[in-house]
Amino acid sequence: MEFSTIIKQAHSGVAYLAIIFLAIAIINAFAGASAKRQFTDKDKKFGLFALIFTHIQLLLGLILYFVSPMVHTLNGSMGEVMKNSALRLYGIEHPMINILAIVLITIGWSKHKKATDDNSKFKKFTIFYTIGLILILSRIPWSNWLPSIFG
Ligand code: HEM
Repeated sequence: MEFSTIIKQAHSGVAYLAIIFLAIAIINAFAGASAKRQFTDKDKKFGLFALIFTHIQLLLGLILYFVSPMVHTLNGSMGEVMKNSALRLYGIEHPMINILAIVLITIGWSKHKKATDDNSKFKKFTIFYTIGLILILSRIPWSNWLPSIFG
């Protein structure tokens, strides 16, 4: 199997893990903040797993960007890419918005570490991880991703 295919399949599979762990971390942090309970090691681990999987996804995405034959076809003219919404999604929007999302998630992680009271730790996760997840979900190539799994 070609290297680019292996990376693409890994990126497609880790996408599930990143999204699921982000959702779990967000729900857990929101529940913790609402209940005003103590921030424990378990809460930190939920945040950490989400951080790790989004970073693995960033690494795979960056590799994919350089090896994907599909992205190579974008090398033509930038004018064509901007006019075609599918090309724009893969070549520009998906990478840029996801990098921004992962930066925000990483900022959320370090802000939770700096926060001194338990409730604000939960809130840092809730706010930054939620914005990150919304950005990620807004730029998934849904029509290509799900059929490749279900069809
Ligand atoms: C958490 C962040 C990310 C998620 C959840 C995610 C998810 C996905 C999904 C579901 C696909 C479709 C896979 C398929 O068609 O089977 C995809 C494709 C792609 N992603 Fe990402 N991605 C993320 C970040 C990134 C980043 C940061 C980059 C680049 C810097 C990137 C580059 C690409 C490229 C180039 C493709 C198209 C590959 C091809 O069809 O040959 N992704 N991504």
